[in-house]
Amino acid sequence: MPTTIEATNAFYGAVDRARRAPSILNTQPWRWRIGSSRMRLYADRARQIRSIDPDGRMLIVSCGATLHHARVALSALGFDVLVERFEEPTEPDLLATVQVVGRHEPAPKDIQNLRDIRARHSDRRPFVANVPVPAQTMDRLTRAAAAEDAWLYRLGPTQTPVLAVAEEGAAAAEEQMPEYQADLEIWTNRSRRDGDGVRPEAVTAQMPRRVAVRNFAPGGETLLEPGFGDDQFTEFLVVVTQADGPVQWLRAGEATSATWLTATGAGLVASAMSDVIEIPVARALVQRMLDPPGFAQLVLRVAVDMQPTPAPNTPRRAVDEVADTGPDLPETDA
Ligand SMILES: Cc1cc2nc3c(=O)[nH]c(=O)nc-3n(C[C@H](O)[C@H](O)[C@H](O)COP(=O)(O)O)c2cc1C
Repeated sequence: MPTTIEATNAFYGAVDRARRAPSILNTQPWRWRIGSSRMRLYADRARQIRSIDPDGRMLIVSCGATLHHARVALSALGFDVLVERFEEPTEPDLLATVQVVGRHEPAPKDIQNLRDIRARHSDRRPFVANVPVPAQTMDRLTRAAAAEDAWLYRLGPTQTPVLAVAEEGAAAAEEQMPEYQADLEIWTNRSRRDGDGVRPEAVTAQMPRRVAVRNFAPGGETLLEPGFGDDQFTEFLVVVTQADGPVQWLRAGEATSATWLTATGAGLVASAMSDVIEIPVARALVQRMLDPPGFAQLVLRVAVDMQPTPAPNTPRRAVDEVADTGPDLPETDA
């Protein structure tokens, strides 16, 4: 078993890497409390975008992504962990407890996953790939999601236009929501020092596409050149769960992270789409296409990375802003 100091250091190291996880509007709606042999993940409700996420689905999916990032980091650091999710019914914001239960020699794959955390980012430009995603790579993505109790549904060529319609409807609905427009204004105008939010460097101007993406800058500045892609070989993957509640949202976030990191490692680019999930009519349209039926939690667009330049790195809050040492965690629990 690792010593107390080893485990605590590893937890801080894991939080450091887990900060890089994707989150809705880069809100990073999580808090970590670190003890000597376990660390706990809490939802940070102050960062919930209530206008479009009243139930906290997207908040918890985001937290699932950071949880998976933390698991990947701990594994790369050589720690075996046990994760308990939603263990305290009276404390719904306590999402997970990660406990160190042993040590192992990190495998090359563990180290690669750690690199993928650093390399992963959202690329919202139309993708320029002129070759399809290899079938073998698609299989790897599918397996990565399945290992997290979710599955990927790959939209077929006749279904992509339906996604485009759902996206158009969701965008139109959100454009008419003053509270959301106010939230968007806040989260797209954060200073780099805040360490969160979506900055103009990460956003392209709206343009005709096979399937539109969220408009982060209605009337505002966009600094990412869209380039000359046409999304011809872009795949649209729906992250699906078998039931629909906070546990599944967390698992969907873990599956999203697992899929996205695997995609990054396999040389793909990606970005997420959640407005089609946030707006119930759009979500119903997406959900109706699933076979077998399930609950749609997020859509990922992926393609072989032939982008002319990498998408920019996005800011994150400092470790001490998202983690503290928990006085309520027993010092030497095994
Ligand atoms: C639950 C969830 C919903 C998201 N929704 C969208 C979206 O609708 N459109 C988009 O472009 N990115 C979306 N993202 C990606 C985030 O905006 C992105 O992860 C964040 O801005 C940080 O940037 P990075 O991915 O480059 O690190 C979503 C991510 C998560 C986890």
